[in-house]
Amino acid sequence: MTLDSTRRVVALVPAAGRGVRLGASAPKAFVPVGGSPMLVHAVDGLIASGVVDRIVIMAPIEMIDAARELLAARAHAASSIPVDVVAGGAERTDSVRAGLAAAADATHILVHDAARALTPPSLIARVVDALSTGHRAVVPGLPVADTIKAVDAAGDVTGTPDRSELRAIQTPQGFDAALLREAYALGLPATDDAGLVEAIGASVHVVPGDAMAFKITGPLDLRLANTLVADMTVGSTPAVTG
Ligand code: CTP
Ligand code: MG
Repeated sequence: MTLDSTRRVVALVPAAGRGVRLGASAPKAFVPVGGSPMLVHAVDGLIASGVVDRIVIMAPIEMIDAARELLAARAHAASSIPVDVVAGGAERTDSVRAGLAAAADATHILVHDAARALTPPSLIARVVDALSTGHRAVVPGLPVADTIKAVDAAGDVTGTPDRSELRAIQTPQGFDAALLREAYALGLPATDDAGLVEAIGASVHVVPGDAMAFKITGPLDLRLANTLVADMTVGSTPAVTG
């Protein structure tokens, strides 16, 4: 459901990580937040944004059937947005590469971590809006609250970058599909997709991020996410009167 009928936005959802830092018994994307797996929250948000035409999830190979069942059982199975599940890879870049191979129909690609389960649909729409105004690579970013220091192997500080120029980068990251494919063709490792696009000399535009798009990485993040979902559920319950 995009504004331009020639545009086809495919969201790739990396969900194939092991969740080592979270330490749960299941791969992280399958760990529940407020009763639903992170993966389901992430897909719900993408669908609710109204700017995504298709979703491709990259799951651990042994979880592919489970992922398909989870998604089929949800209300969004009734939505007209196709959701496919493919096998991810050993590193996040391998997973994204697997998603790219399954998204030949895309004119634009969003890469959105399942671990950013509570990302507001408005942020997803903001990234796609910036793509439609002509930016070829778009990332959401937030000012950093902490002072960041560069530190060498001996533990000594080598520099303190000006914090006002720094942004903490989130997902979804949005790209012109041809640009992202070109960047991935280099075969370099990277912690985010925009880093690969920067490596081929293309410019990357930053739009305002959202605190709710935080990545669930460790146990503290999971506690925060569960609390937030519980608060939202209470907030949406009609008040009992009389
Ligand atoms: N991811 C992936 N394939 C991998 C590694 C990560 O699809 N080989 C996904 C994760 O499922 C997650 C996102 O990339 O949605 C961000 O990765 P991260 O937060 O690091 O998740 P994990 O790799 O699962 O966690 P950890 O690094 O603690 O093991
Ligand atoms: Mg990881």
